[in-house]
Formats: sequence, C-alpha cells, structure tokens
Amino acid sequence: MSSFQDKIKELLEKREQAKLGGGEKRIESQHKKGKMTARERIQLLLDEGSFEEFDMFVTHRCTDFGLEDKQYYSDGVVTGYGTIDGRLVYVFAQDFTVFGGSLSLAYAEKICKVMDKAMKAGAPVIGINDSGGARIQEGVMSLAGYADIFQRNILASGLIPQISAIFGPCAGGAVYSPALTDFTVMTKKNSYMFVTGPKVVKTVTGEVVTTDELGGADVHGTKSGVNHFIAENEEEGIALIRKLLSYLPQNNLEEPPAEACDDPIDRLEDALNSIIPDNPNKPYDVKDIIWAVVDYNEFLEVQRNYAPNIVTGFARFNGTSVGIIANQPKYLAGVLDINASRKAARFVRFCDAFNIPLVTFVDVPGFLPGTSQEYGGIIIHGAKLLFAYGEATVPKITIVLRKAYGGAYCVMSSKHLRGDINYSWPMAEIAVMGPKGAIEVLYQKELNEFETQEEKDKFILEKETNYKEKFATPYNAARYGYIDDIIEPRNTRFRIIRALQSLATKKDVNPPKKHSNIPL
Ligand code: HXC
Repeated sequence: MSSFQDKIKELLEKREQAKLGGGEKRIESQHKKGKMTARERIQLLLDEGSFEEFDMFVTHRCTDFGLEDKQYYSDGVVTGYGTIDGRLVYVFAQDFTVFGGSLSLAYAEKICKVMDKAMKAGAPVIGINDSGGARIQEGVMSLAGYADIFQRNILASGLIPQISAIFGPCAGGAVYSPALTDFTVMTKKNSYMFVTGPKVVKTVTGEVVTTDELGGADVHGTKSGVNHFIAENEEEGIALIRKLLSYLPQNNLEEPPAEACDDPIDRLEDALNSIIPDNPNKPYDVKDIIWAVVDYNEFLEVQRNYAPNIVTGFARFNGTSVGIIANQPKYLAGVLDINASRKAARFVRFCDAFNIPLVTFVDVPGFLPGTSQEYGGIIIHGAKLLFAYGEATVPKITIVLRKAYGGAYCVMSSKHLRGDINYSWPMAEIAVMGPKGAIEVLYQKELNEFETQEEKDKFILEKETNYKEKFATPYNAARYGYIDDIIEPRNTRFRIIRALQSLATKKDVNPPKKHSNIPL
C-alpha cells in the first residue's frame, strides 16, 4: 500500500475514534439514562447528510491532575454547521461521554469558532447542553472559556436567533449562556439548570431539595420562566427546535420565510360571533380565538405554563410569520402581573429584533393590585412591556376583544404606542376602569347616603347602565380614531391578513442613540 493510502487509512481510523467520544462504555451509560450522544442529537437535528464538522481533532492542553494522559478527540463538544429545512445553521453539542461534557479552554474555543462564523454568515446558532460545567482541572482557563462564550452570546443577541437545548446537566455559571440566548428547550427527564446544586443549597441555606425540584423542566417552565419549551424527550425537543426555526428569519436583516398557504384568507369563523360570554366576568379561552384565525389552526405557544394569564407564541397568517400576544381571560381574568409583563415584553422584543410582525389580542381588566405585586416591582416590570411595545417598529396589529381598561389599555399595543392598525370587536369595553369600580369612585358620597340596599342597588344599576352606554363600548375610542374600525368577530382572520398585507412595506425608525435604557 502506498504511503498516501496509509495516511487516508489513518485519517479514517482517527475519525472513527473521534466519533466514539469517551468510548463505548460511556456511550452505553448515556443511552441507559435515555439520552442520546452529541453526534446522534446533531444527526437528528440537521437535514440528513448536511452536517459538516469542525475541529474533530482538537484536544485539551491541560497538563495537570494526570489529564495529560487522558486525551479524547473533539474534547467533549461536537461543532459545525448544516441545514434545517435547507437553511444554514451552526451547531454545537456538548458530549457528556468526555469528562462529563465539562468545558475546557480548547472546547470553549470550538464553540466560539462556530458562533463567530454564524454571526458572519447571519445564520442561527443552536447549542445542545449536557455538561458538568467548568472542567475543574483547567481552573481559570475554563472560566475564561465560559466568559468568551457569554461575550459572543451578547454580541449575537438580536443579530441571529440563538436557541439552547438542555438535555442534561447545566449548572453553575454555565447556565448563563442558555440564559443569554433567545429560547431554551428542556426535556421532562434528565434536564436541569441551577446556579448552585442541591448539595450547596443544603450547606448554605439548610434547604433540602432534589435536583428536579431545584431546576427541572417543570420548575423553569412554570415558576422561574427560564425555560420556553418543555419536551417529553429529546426527539420531541429536537423536532420543536426545527419547527421554531421555521417561523424565524436567518438574521435581523432578513424577513421571516413566507410559506405557501392554501388556507383561505377569507375563511369566516361564525363561532367567533358568539365566543365572548354575555357576562363580562365570565372567562373564555383566548386560544380558541387564536386557533380559529391563524393558518391551519397552528399555533406554536412559547412559555405555555409560565404566567398563563398572557399567551405568547408564533403562527402564520396567509403564510406570513407573526408573533401573537394575547391576554388570557381563563387565568386571573387575563390581568397583567409581574410575570406576564416580563414574559410578554421579552417576546415582543424578540419579534421586533427579528422583523416578525406583532398581532395582539386584548382582553385585560388592568394591572394586578396588591402589596405582593407592588413590593415585587410591578411598576418596573409593567414598564418593560410598555417599553417593548413602544420601541417596536415591526407592523403592529391590535384587536380589542372585550376589556381594555386603564393603563393596560395603553400598554397592550395601543394606537398611542404606534399601533399600526387597531381594531375592536363590537362588545369591547375601552375605559379608564370597569363600570363597578368607576361607580364606586364617582358616586362614593351618594352611595353612603342610601337608607335601603334596594334603593342603593337600583341607583348602582342605573349608573352602571349609563356608564356602560357611554364609556364601556369601543365607539368612544373609535370616535377619536384610536380604534381604526369595529369589526365583526367572524371576519377577524381576513381583516388581520389584509392589515398585514398593507403593512408589508412599513418602515419606522427610532431616534439614533447608543441604546435605550429599558427598565430592567
Ligand atoms: C471535570 C468532570 C466534571 C467537571 C463531571 N466530570 N463533571 N470532570 N470537570 N466539572 C467527569 C467525572 O469525573 C466523570 O469522569 C465523568 O465526568 C462523568 O461524571 P459522573 O459524576 O460520573 O456523572 P453523573 O453521576 O451523571 O453526574 C453528573 C454531574 C456530576 C451531576 C454533572 O459529575 C457533577 O456534579 N459534576 C461536577 C459539577 C460541578 O460542580 N461543576 C462545576 C460547576 S461551576 P469519569 O472519568 O469517571 O467518567 C461551573 C462554573 C462555570 O461550571 C462558571 C462560568 C462563568
């Protein structure tokens, strides 16, 4: 055999060795936990045969703790690029079979390389996390590596979509890279994120918690809001990432991909004419309205279980990707509280950064009153949502379904925050507050003077009817042009699509500045 042939054979052997990561035994142990290996995950994520790997032969450079004798090709992270539905993406997948997926400087350099390339190419980055954190033997070199990644996450923010899958441990400062990205997907099992693990928690605070209770998918999907999507397993998580990307542009200079659509644009939804209960205090599910009006009734909900009093997610109208924000009367009457404001503000800002039009459905009784909200800073958090809508320059379409009261009317993509097209349904109530509260404030003195309850009730009813006729309708807002038209509910899909078409070439800019100072 020629020496060239030997070299080719050597290359192929080395490749095979690299593909084994930390070895067959560790791969087996990974599988036993119900987890895929880094390469299996990438294979499933990308279009078949599209993966091009970088830095397969990178090894760590640590010479302490006997590590000099333990070398694995790829050093615990698989990196490269490929396509999803034919569109370029950059990927890295941490390989738990090599030193528990822990991060060395060489490993961080590999991640930084794909991130730099993704930013230059204007293509999304997807990171699959499964790691014991900083490689303890490398000390500060590993910390430096993390910080180098954080810096790139920050520079890439708003430039290219960044998506994190958490398919294993993600602990310590390592959590901050996913936290800096746009969306995080966790699996129900095996996936956890925390700044300090249960052992440290017990030492420092005495609190006894399990890994899942501290940082499992449920906790981050319902309580903290750190996580955006919960998947049953890795396969579902990967399918979700592929779907999510279908709504997004490649970068901030592109439009989201337009899809061919044969769902009729003038599809009438008769059920919508009677979906709002006659009793204004009776709830309904705003998602029934969303599903009814969007293409093929398909809605990809973001943060489904966190602050369910506001609904956020992606859908399409006649093939055009939009971000939907909707107050949810089914939970807490759709009130705006701290968590709902934070959730929706972040979503609005993501959509605005990536040229995704906003469609807002409003049915909001106001901001949630009380000490827990005030002490928690509802003022500053509510201001986030107000800020996000006000600075957004993408097309903004608003449909007031029922209540739009007080400050919450202003916040929810009102005309005054540069809402482009603001419609309302005929049963909408747009006022400073609901009739009951208004009567109590306006007629406080009179209400105290009644001798019988009967007389008082009669007075209240009369005043409430009067108030409702005058203020709790959309016609008052429409009179001033704050509502562009009052539409028949069943025609909502058509009206939104026409509005989006008219705004397709919309241009709006904010004054030049270094950056704004959003109330964080
Ligand atoms: C080096 C590590 C490692 C680490 C795991 N390993 N974590 N090696 N540095 N951080 C190695 C183990 O020695 C073991 O090697 C292999 O990976 C698999 O680990 P196991 O413990 O056997 O696996 P498992 O039982 O599944 O437990 C996984 C684990 C545990 C929960 C992640 O390994 C663990 O607690 N690791 C330490 C986590 C940690 O404290 N990291 C530092 C966080 S602070 P062998 O050779 O036996 O297979 C941090 C700061 C970042 O990351 C700061 C950024 C600014």
